Amino acid sequence: MTDEACADWIRPEIRAESGIPQEPVPEGTLRLDAMENPFDLPPEIHRRLGEDLARLPLNRYPDGGASELRELLGKRLFGLPSDHIFLGNGSDEILQNLFLLTPGPILLAEPTFSMYRLLARITGRPVGTVPLEKDFSLDPEALLEAVKRLRPSLIVLSHPNNPTGRDLDSRAVERLCREFSGGILVDEAYFPFSGNTLLSLRDTCPSLMVLRSLSKMGLAALRLGVLAANPRIVAELDKIRLPYNLGILTQRAATLICRESFPILEAQVRMIIGLREELRDRLQTISGVAPLPSSANFLLVRIAGADPSFVAQRLALQGIRVRDVSRQHPLLAGCLRVTIGKREENDRFASTLALILKGQP
Ligand SMILES: Cc1ncc(COP(=O)(O)O)c(C=O)c1O
Repeated sequence: MTDEACADWIRPEIRAESGIPQEPVPEGTLRLDAMENPFDLPPEIHRRLGEDLARLPLNRYPDGGASELRELLGKRLFGLPSDHIFLGNGSDEILQNLFLLTPGPILLAEPTFSMYRLLARITGRPVGTVPLEKDFSLDPEALLEAVKRLRPSLIVLSHPNNPTGRDLDSRAVERLCREFSGGILVDEAYFPFSGNTLLSLRDTCPSLMVLRSLSKMGLAALRLGVLAANPRIVAELDKIRLPYNLGILTQRAATLICRESFPILEAQVRMIIGLREELRDRLQTISGVAPLPSSANFLLVRIAGADPSFVAQRLALQGIRVRDVSRQHPLLAGCLRVTIGKREENDRFASTLALILKGQP
């Protein structure tokens, strides 16, 4: 596009964005960069889903309130009725809607999920940040000091945090609940792997919301995020949600999978947790490699004696994609983030990494 085409009428901060790279992934690439579940549902489930979805009418708009799915997911994920539940086309869409609700700054504890900053920029929301401690724990004093100074509308915390894999300390969040009256979003995208939720804090803190995603447990292709929030917040979100934001295929597929196939996904999640610990043990035997403990389906891996960007490029040349986060934040210097794959995929990654660090291939 020429400058003339978009010079004056597009917000300069959008023109300054580079955008998220979305080039197709070459076939055969081992993707350890997007925190997907490496196991798909069995062919039998695909077949049953296919038969069911084939009968759906495609000429009518879907249920705009996704009422059946909201009820099912509310009960299944949170034990809550549907008026406490807001659904989005991925949790990214829910984050975007939440940011659109806020009049003031959004406060983040960094390093954290990079989409928070990007979504704040594209929704035109100012961002305040406090650094995490060196061990990636939350510093409640720093957060409360930033609350006083910046008067944020919303604090967003990832639990466990992407890309560190570390859980939040519930006492720090409890304290925040007592001393901050704005919105607090606890993003639990990796809850299936951590089993650790701050949902109960909603009882005493009505502005605390818990965000979950179906992507990481194995349904990334459906694009479905689920927010548990006070019904008053859900009603405000409903005013800005685009109509029919969830297509009929996603609604129906998620409903069927939620009713019939969650135990399969839960078994896969347990397997991934085991594979994570195996990979961590294996990486610890490679000289110069320090994988951090993780409650999620990825490992943050610190590399000594080699430039992680170079290592990520060499891995890519071998058809293995990991995420180079080393430039994202000073605390992440030297770090790569690696999603847990199947056992043979993790072996391939670990042995290729060892060879690269030895100066080959
Ligand atoms: C912390 C966190 N929140 C939200 C998301 C977005 O997930 P979804 O696929 O539901 O949009 C991610 C994806 O990586 C994430 O890491």
